[in-house]
Amino acid sequence: MQNMRPLLCLALFVISGACVAPAGPWDAFNLSPASKTVYPTSIYQTTGTVSHAHALVDNVGSATVSGNGSWFTLDFGKEIGGLVSFNLDSVSATTSLALSFTESPMFIRSYASDDSSYPAANTTFDTVFHIPAPLSPGYWVQPAFSLRGGFRYLSIVLTDPNGAPVTISNVSAAISFAPHIENLRAYAGYFYAKDPTFHDHDFLTKGGSFAFQTNTVPLNTGRMVPFESAGHWANNATLGVAGPIIVDGAKRDRHVQPKVSL
Ligand SMILES: *[C@@H]1O[C@H](CO)[C@@H](O)[C@H](O)[C@H]1NC(C)=O
Ligand SMILES: *[C@@H]1O[C@H](CO)[C@@H](O)[C@H](O)[C@H]1NC(C)=O
Ligand SMILES: *[C@@H]1O[C@H](CO)[C@@H](O)[C@H](O)[C@H]1NC(C)=O
Ligand SMILES: *[C@@H]1O[C@H](CO)[C@@H](O)[C@H](O)[C@H]1NC(C)=O
Repeated sequence: MQNMRPLLCLALFVISGACVAPAGPWDAFNLSPASKTVYPTSIYQTTGTVSHAHALVDNVGSATVSGNGSWFTLDFGKEIGGLVSFNLDSVSATTSLALSFTESPMFIRSYASDDSSYPAANTTFDTVFHIPAPLSPGYWVQPAFSLRGGFRYLSIVLTDPNGAPVTISNVSAAISFAPHIENLRAYAGYFYAKDPTFHDHDFLTKGGSFAFQTNTVPLNTGRMVPFESAGHWANNATLGVAGPIIVDGAKRDRHVQPKVSL
């Protein structure tokens, strides 16, 4: 039976084009998320009055933020891309929110994301995504044009002249990249080896890696050109005639990639 396995695998490969390896040390090199709905894995920071922020980790409860200018930063644990959604459980008529997105912790700021529209020297070209007052209680989904294709940290910033509280729960992101791949962790066609005399491991994939997935995007999620003006970004341009399509970069260079160099 043991000897049948490679043959069975080959037969499956011919039929489905994919053959998944059994669990092993090579899984440590597989950075792809297990689900297309991802939740924060930790709280990076809180500023001002933020209570129960940790309840947002893995979606176990709700957090309350109050006081004008209070904010907090959620860490998704790895690079992700897609539309954010959450539930506003209680709001006040005067409150507005702002969202800022970054790949690196170096650029976490309440007033700006890292640049995706245009790489300006001041690093504050994009600024934030505003959700204006009055907020509606209930489920909120980020509009499609404002998609961020690459981020790890999401900051949520409260503005309220009266400092009124907002209670928020169910913060997640819907992975938008590699829409044609159902199980992002099922890499096909890779090679793994352990160096017998050194603490080194080699892991090579044939077009199945996480970087490749994050750069393979739905057809209508390209960066708008000419770029949006300062203070905005838009990722709703149509990239070609058929998709998904490979682009230069998940976050900023969402243009068709004429060569593959990942
Ligand atoms: C940052 O630089 C860009 C490009 O030069 C400019 O359009 C924008 O207004 C600047 N932002 C701020 C906040 O100064
Ligand atoms: C992209 O979204 C912006 C902002 O909503 C909108 O003005 C524009 O028409 C959209 N473009 C396309 C190609 O859908
Ligand atoms: C609230 O905070 C914002 C910046 O986050 C500031 O521009 C505004 O003046 C503040 N409003 C009040 C009433 O303090
Ligand atoms: C929580 O968010 C998910 C998307 O991640 C959504 O499908 C679900 O309806 C939300 N839950 C509630 C109670 O609105």
